[in-house]
This record gives sequence, structure tokens and C-alpha cells, in this order.
Amino acid sequence: MPAISASAPGKVILFGEHAVVYGRPAIAVPVTQVQAKAIVTANPLGKPGEVRVQAPTIGLETTLGELPDADPLGVAIRGTLGEVGIARPPALTVRITSTIPVAAGLGSGAAVSVAVIRGLSAFLGHPLEAERVSALAYEVEKIHHGTPSGIDNTVVTYAMPVYFVRETSPGGDLSARIETFKVQEPFTLVIGDTGIPSPTAITVGDVRAARERDPLVYEAMFEAIERMVESAREAIESGHNEALGPLMDENQAVLAEIGVSSPELERLVEAARETGALGAKLSGGGRGGNMIALAPEEEAGQIARALEEAGAVRTIVSTVEKSR
Ligand code: PMV
Repeated sequence: MPAISASAPGKVILFGEHAVVYGRPAIAVPVTQVQAKAIVTANPLGKPGEVRVQAPTIGLETTLGELPDADPLGVAIRGTLGEVGIARPPALTVRITSTIPVAAGLGSGAAVSVAVIRGLSAFLGHPLEAERVSALAYEVEKIHHGTPSGIDNTVVTYAMPVYFVRETSPGGDLSARIETFKVQEPFTLVIGDTGIPSPTAITVGDVRAARERDPLVYEAMFEAIERMVESAREAIESGHNEALGPLMDENQAVLAEIGVSSPELERLVEAARETGALGAKLSGGGRGGNMIALAPEEEAGQIARALEEAGAVRTIVSTVEKSR
């Protein structure tokens, strides 16, 4: 059997973080500059049914049988074998590499799952439809996040922007309305990492407490963000990307009012704007983590350097491609 290679991109939240927790829409986009990759090869020396798993970047070298039940890679591989109906595959090796920074809100876990599910199902002669790939990756996301919205597995599987709204079913279960949508004209983002770890659960908890103290003020801010998200989607779908910069600046101002910006994020946002970015904002949970800037393509490198001078520990320049 020929070797199969499959990959999946990272993601960032473009607009709508935090407000999305309260039923407002958000938009996430793929970050194709970084990728997770799975290479599946036959292992002629192995015993039938033996699945070797290698992830050299994290020093992992094991077999499927040795992975604990709740291991994300184990769940992705077992889920795929179950989906294609092959309990005992020919001896094979799944080798995973990734350039997506981990625990940085860039969708690394979902991308690894999607690459593994795609690679393994194709190797076994049953390439899965995107919808099934995303659904299996969602099962793995549950291990990482408990009650994931489903946005990461969707944006990473389809490699298209995703518009999503959380919904609570009558039974109280978390679900989400998720729509992919087209990019009329490409646009370039520069992503800057403050290098400051900031667990999303803490910022989300703080926002919840603040909203309980001041529900009207917070709902008004979430409503303002909702309008920005709707305008941003229209702009991306119609090719009016110039509208995105001011919308990012407005979204950042409201996020600062909500209480999730930080001096380090503000410094990076300012540095990007001063160097020619068309707009900039934090992305994800805030307080630390990443910020994003909309860059004229030819100025992206210069903006990335300015971010590094202003304290970013890592920058990524990524173009959100026009949809085919
Ligand atoms: O840290 P990320 O990129 O997974 O984003 C967190 C986004 C929040 O809206 C702050 C929380 C959430 O669960 O949607």
C-alpha cells in the first residue's frame, strides 16, 4: 500500500470571542501557514493489527494498544477504524508532525486529529467525507475541551472561514449552528504571540462574573460585537476586505472594555497599527495569548518585525485564500 500524507491547517478567531459564549456569532479563519501532518505507511515487519504511532516533535513512539483510552491520538485512530469498519488493519505506522504552536488558541489539537483521520481513512481505502472527518475530530475535541463549540474541528477540516453561533438545546446540551462561507478576495493576517499563558477558562470566568454584576452593559457590548461580526462576514463574502481593519479596531476597543485586553496585547496592537496594519485586535481568550493584525500583503513582513520588537515571542504571517 502506498504511503498517504494528509494535512490540516491551524485557525484563529477573527471576530466575536467572548460574546460567542452568550449566544452571539463569531468568525474563525484557517491559518494555512502552519500545518499538522500525518503520514501513514505500511509496516511490513509489524504484526497484522499493529498500529505504530510516532510523534517525534513531542517524543512519542508507541503503539495504539499502549495508548490510554482517553488519549486524543488513540481516540482519533480508534474512531477512524470504527468508522471505516476495519477492526484489524494491516500493520501500519502513523507519523505525526506539526508546526502549529500548542495551547495557543491556534487549533493544534483539532488539526492533528483531522490530519490523522484523513490520512488513516485514505490509507485504508475509505477516504472519509469532510463531514465525517469533522464529526470524528469533534469527538477528540471533547477530550481536550469538555464541551467544545465545534468551531475548531470545522474550520480546520474545511479550511474555510466559519461563522458560528452557540445554541443551547431544550435539554440544556451545548450545540452550535456552524456555517462555512466563501472568501471573495484573499487577505493577509499577521499573528503575534505575547508569550503570556492565559487559560481561556479564567478569562471566560472573569467575564461571566463581570456580566452578572452589570448585565445590561455587558449585553450591550456583546450586541455591538454581534453587529461587527455580521459586517465582517458580509465584507469577506463580498470582497470588501478594507472594511475588516476598522471592524477589528472596534472589536478590540470593546474587548478592552470587557476587561480581557492587557498592556502586552495593547503594545502589540499599537505596534501593528503604527507599522501599517489596517486594523488589529486580540484573538481568543485574551489577557495573553495571540493578537492578529490585518496587513497589506507587501507590509506583512515589516509588521511582523515590528511585533517582535514590541515583545512578540513568535509571529506568523498567513493569507486567508480566496475560496475556489
Ligand atoms: O482560546 P481560543 O482561541 O480557543 O478562543 C476562546 C474563545 C472564547 O470565546 C473566549 C471562549 C470560547 O469558548 O468561545
